[in-house]
Amino acid sequence: MVPFTPGRLKPDQVECPLPDPLSIRLLNYSDIPAAMRLKEAAGWNQTEADWRRLLALAPDACFGIDCDGVLAATMTAISYADDLAWIGMVLTAPEFRNRGFARALMRHTLDHLRCSGVSWVKLDATEMGARIYSDFNFQFECAVERWLRPAGEIPATVSGCPGQPLEIASIASRDTFGISRRLLLDALLRSGGVSLNGSGFALWRPGSFAHQFGPCVATGADIAERLLRVALHANAGRPLVWDLAPQNAGAVQLASQYGFQPTRRLSRMACVLRPGAPPVQAAMDSIFALAGFEYG
Ligand SMILES: CC(C)(COP(=O)(O)OP(=O)(O)OC[C@H]1O[C@@H](n2cnc3c(N)ncnc32)[C@H](O)[C@@H]1OP(=O)(O)O)[C@@H](O)C(=O)NCCC(=O)NCCS
Repeated sequence: MVPFTPGRLKPDQVECPLPDPLSIRLLNYSDIPAAMRLKEAAGWNQTEADWRRLLALAPDACFGIDCDGVLAATMTAISYADDLAWIGMVLTAPEFRNRGFARALMRHTLDHLRCSGVSWVKLDATEMGARIYSDFNFQFECAVERWLRPAGEIPATVSGCPGQPLEIASIASRDTFGISRRLLLDALLRSGGVSLNGSGFALWRPGSFAHQFGPCVATGADIAERLLRVALHANAGRPLVWDLAPQNAGAVQLASQYGFQPTRRLSRMACVLRPGAPPVQAAMDSIFALAGFEYG
């Protein structure tokens, strides 16, 4: 056997005990407790409800690898129509790392998406993941950050109205993400949200160590601020995380002003599966909070 040299061989050249492709399988709802153990080992914020949502949104593209009778690695890919799929939950249990599981799942997931006719794939990469994705021709697109606000004082006055699904759907369909994410937004809206006179909306949901603010789409920072203040009240007494693109200076300014601190920096990366397909570009100046690293 050719000895494995990390970083020097391309995935297809590596001769090492990669898992049999047949051992990659679809995840199902009974995998959620094991999937929760994987995300806990990585210190991530998702809940069982997040796994359920991913399985509901992508029943044919949530994959896992079993090893020694346990779930060892996962990867999910939500397709937002044929134009774009979003990969998330790239996790390998610490005891199973460096065996090529994440690379095998990536190869399998990209093959699946290619066969399904998807044009572009994106993801938000941690430093650990980015090296793997570069080998699959993912290119850096922009930085994304996680900001955290500990539970604490919230501003005294807010205005806004409870989330109105129809209005949120109509704002969302104005293409700020570059593509409709109607199904995702409908699913996230069940946890909580607010909209403001057709000029913006914000959603929030529970997390395991902090509630999550986002997505938040607004025509300007003044609207985003009003939405944020409603969200702070709705999530009072809980730490709140906010994923944002630092190129949206208004989002950074608001996050600082309201007591959030940056805690993690990731790289948004994109890979074209159908050469020549038009790029899917989000209007980052209108996106004040991302939906989350697993959703974009
Ligand atoms: C990132 C992560 C998913 C990688 O999972 P993994 O299954 O260990 O990944 P792989 O084994 O496919 O590849 C990892 C490395 O091991 C190397 N490798 C693959 N097979 C190997 C083998 N048989 N022997 C030694 N090394 C091997 C790969 O080349 C790669 O090396 P590199 O880091 O120099 O590029 C895992 O470390 C993890 O769960 N981290 C925490 C969560 C996280 O950050 N996820 C990514 C989110 S974007």
